[in-house]
Amino acid sequence: MTVSFVLPEVTPVETINWAEIPSPAFVLDESRLRRNLALISQVQRESGAQIIVAFKGFAMWSTFGLLREYGITGATASSLNEARLAYEEMKGEVHVYAPAYSDEDFPRILELADHLVFNSFTQWVRFRPQVEAARAAGRTVHVGIRVNHEYGEVDTDLYNPAGPFSRLGVTRREFREDLLEGVDGLHFHSLCENDSSTLERTLVAFEEKFGEFLPRMKWVNFGGGHLMTRAGYDLDRLIRVVRDFKARHNLHVILEPGSAFGWQTGWLVSSVLDVVHNVKDAAVLDVSVSAHMPDVLEMPYRPRILGAGDPPEQGQHREDDGTLAASGHPYIVGGTTCLAGDVIGEYIFAQELQPGDRVVFDDMIHYTMVKTTFFNGVKHPDIGILHVDGNYERVRAFGYEEFKAKLS
Ligand SMILES: Cc1ncc(COP(=O)(O)O)c(C=O)c1O
Repeated sequence: MTVSFVLPEVTPVETINWAEIPSPAFVLDESRLRRNLALISQVQRESGAQIIVAFKGFAMWSTFGLLREYGITGATASSLNEARLAYEEMKGEVHVYAPAYSDEDFPRILELADHLVFNSFTQWVRFRPQVEAARAAGRTVHVGIRVNHEYGEVDTDLYNPAGPFSRLGVTRREFREDLLEGVDGLHFHSLCENDSSTLERTLVAFEEKFGEFLPRMKWVNFGGGHLMTRAGYDLDRLIRVVRDFKARHNLHVILEPGSAFGWQTGWLVSSVLDVVHNVKDAAVLDVSVSAHMPDVLEMPYRPRILGAGDPPEQGQHREDDGTLAASGHPYIVGGTTCLAGDVIGEYIFAQELQPGDRVVFDDMIHYTMVKTTFFNGVKHPDIGILHVDGNYERVRAFGYEEFKAKLS
């Protein structure tokens, strides 16, 4: 089986006038989001899985109308705040999972949630009376248990929920079959930017450990980490794996990716404030690595800068398209906080950098604006949308009031 995907064209990067976009700004490109959504909605149709968006990775709520246009009607929330955002702005199914719910938040979460996933049987037992009372009052509340099949292919410990002593999910050893009354689903999450071959192997481990409980369930949530919008991702395999699982167990399957929605859908536009010299040139930008793109330091990874290349390799350097270039201007690229490590590293630019020049970081939509801080009180980038007609819309600007509101 080969499914052909015909996806809409995207706005060529060369046609974008960066100087017209006020800096700093997270800029979502509507054409690129539409392309991802077209792909995700086709996977949803072909596989029969329900695909919901994980707010922890992508929660740009001004785009939720677009998501609904493509049949994405549900969201998964990790907290009361995200659940409320899902209810108020997605206006679809609200799924909630958190490593633990507090007594204070739970009653409100229960009011908002259609699907509630518990990370442990102790939490399920603690909150079961409230769930039962809601059901007795006529509410449909699906309850799932997050399980840990202890199989992971994630190299970075920071992102591996299936690693040793993980607090995320119930292992087979701790699983309480006697407490399954009222539970109608299982949830696992152990992928991170993986391909569908990882999902296929993961399902073997999941079914080996928890397959015996599946006849008692109505649904299984395969978590996130399915990077289906990345070029080269094996979509046919994903569709086949989901279909086969559904056929084997006759269950409703849910996928809850975050990254796949925002993957390659926009940029962080910044500008140079100053260039300082200490043996090497360093460009100080009006954004912060630590405050605005923290995964660069946490993961860590090196983002691509449009039009800039990597540092010299044996006397030569590569442009961003991989070709070897004869010359260029090296700069250490860093942010505007006082943190010494608020730095990405060295890049080679075609021209010398001057104050006011734009420096555009690629692929800065997922896990960026959901994680930003006001560290040092630095200016928070705007959030904007580059529409398909070429118009730029500044959707949100942040000022002193937002900074002050986080403190007291
Ligand atoms: C429980 C759960 N679901 C979904 C996701 C979304 O994963 P991703 O953005 O990698 O698709 C995560 C990410 O950490 C998660 O922990």
